[in-house]
Amino acid sequence: MNCISVAIDGPAGAGKSSISRTVAKQMGFIYIDTGAMYRSVALYAIDKGIDTREEKNKVIECLDDIKIEIKYTDSGQRILLNGVDVSEEIRQEKVSAGASDVAVIPQVRERLMDMQRKMAKSANVIMDGRDICSYVLPNAQVKIFLTASSEARAMRRYQELLEKGIECDFETIKNDMEARDKNDSSRAVSPLKKADDAVLVDTTELDFEQSVEKIKELIKNAL
Ligand code: CDP
Repeated sequence: MNCISVAIDGPAGAGKSSISRTVAKQMGFIYIDTGAMYRSVALYAIDKGIDTREEKNKVIECLDDIKIEIKYTDSGQRILLNGVDVSEEIRQEKVSAGASDVAVIPQVRERLMDMQRKMAKSANVIMDGRDICSYVLPNAQVKIFLTASSEARAMRRYQELLEKGIECDFETIKNDMEARDKNDSSRAVSPLKKADDAVLVDTTELDFEQSVEKIKELIKNAL
């Protein structure tokens, strides 16, 4: 079967995952959150007491022991790390920073990229991340770079955590997010960057519904 792929890249907090999830549901696509896969590798390493920034070789050694699965349930998508549901645990800020650390390791990227490409071969997908348009699915029928101002992105992340009952501080989130953007944009392998043929969508002035509509329109026009 010839599968349709929608690739969405962009920095943290631009709304990629919530918008992609909603668009996928409304249009009958499978949503694949590649960030959750990097987060799972980071969580495994952190739980093993590995310093994700300094001990890259140890992270690489772990790769064969890590099995990541995405399970689709009535209550949404769940991420399983070696059979254990870690969907909530991977959202902690220390795991966000760890994900950005492990994402600079070429062996980690290669391993996850293989999994992501296999997933896109077997279903119509909306896949979001940092390098989907440029590296993972360069032949995707729709390519979007979703962004927003750093202030707006930090505010969204702050509200998202508050809604989940997670205690947090706006300035810390904004600083962490900017540090992560810098880390993601300046790394040698697959840096966060708009692909030449991706459509830029800036959601700073758009609310959630408007952003969803905009993405749906781009997909409909392309297919
Ligand atoms: O949800 P948020 O945008 O904060 O981040 P995420 O999509 O869960 O990704 C977490 C981290 O994984 C990012 O900061 C990137 O360093 C890395 N990542 C990546 O390098 N490539 C991807 N395709 C997805 C995530």
